[in-house]
Amino acid sequence: MKKYNVAVVGASGAVGEEILRVLDEIDFPYNKIVPMASSRSAGNTVGFGGRELVIKELTETVFAEEEIEIALFSAGGSVSAKYAPCAAEAGAVVVDNTSHYRMNPDVPLVVPEVNPQDIAQWKKTGIIANPNCSTIQMVQALKPLDDAYDLIRVDVSTYQATSGAGKTAMEELVRQMQDFFAFKLDESAHEKFPHQIALNLIPQIDVFTDSGYTKEELKMVNETKKIMHKSIEVSATCVRVPVLRGHSESLTLTFDSAVNADEARHLLEKAPNIVVVDNPAASEYPMPAACVDRNETFVGRIRNDLYRDNVLHLWVVADNLRVGAATNAVRIAQKWIEMQEEA
Ligand code: A2P
Repeated sequence: MKKYNVAVVGASGAVGEEILRVLDEIDFPYNKIVPMASSRSAGNTVGFGGRELVIKELTETVFAEEEIEIALFSAGGSVSAKYAPCAAEAGAVVVDNTSHYRMNPDVPLVVPEVNPQDIAQWKKTGIIANPNCSTIQMVQALKPLDDAYDLIRVDVSTYQATSGAGKTAMEELVRQMQDFFAFKLDESAHEKFPHQIALNLIPQIDVFTDSGYTKEELKMVNETKKIMHKSIEVSATCVRVPVLRGHSESLTLTFDSAVNADEARHLLEKAPNIVVVDNPAASEYPMPAACVDRNETFVGRIRNDLYRDNVLHLWVVADNLRVGAATNAVRIAQKWIEMQEEA
């Protein structure tokens, strides 16, 4: 089997570090791994498979110099806007974790369990987009239910961990908790979030648009339609919670036909990369603390609506740095390799 030269752009960040772990764990067919970041951390090292790799500075020419064939980007939208085309021009396939290219009609937006066939469109720009973290875990759970009952509407509230906003955001939560125990939470600074996040909930992720919804909420609306190739109605409320890792979602799903909770549970049990944890009598259900470092999406609290037979409620939890970012990006790259080798 061919082995590939792989760049991890943003290797010193929360998602970049996780991509390195996933690549190592799954025995990815690499010839070499080249971690890249800004000049701030170029020359520093990152751990990979028990070794230390030296971080290279991201430049316009580094992809050609290193003969990169697969470039996994998670260094922010403006970095992808500038450098992803350089990687593509140098002949690499780019898997981009930022929102920059997601709604570009020439760029496929892929969750391999849902729309792997869209990867075939990659040649248009050389770029494949990785969806928003909250969208990925949601559509994984929606897909088998849509296939069976024809989904027409999703009402979702999210409970999103601070790591979704990067490493410094995680540090902000920890620092505020330390300040709380030192009786100085009142003086604690907040930079990554619009308010104190420790001992709090913030019903705002990203900025508000004129519609009254935040950009994060509209990402869930628009990305779901693009991935599922269907004009499903989606209404989202995205909330930041004082959790370090693991996004949770409460979903209310409306179908075109009647849905049975037991049958839905069975369909989810058979779905790829989904684990059903649904034993209320023993207080067993998915929780963020139990999903850390896992590559599966956990579903529980599956129950029928009390009033309507075409409405189902469920609770979906996944590690946002893995399922919501690194694991999905690496699975896209694996699928891309599979398709190259079949061609
Ligand atoms: P650096 O450590 O050099 O700043 P997080 O999402 O956890 O905050 O991480 C962001 C990642 O993106 C880091 O690896 C960071 O590298 C990288 N990054 C940020 N800005 C740039 C840039 N202009 N060029 C290259 N990498 C960047």
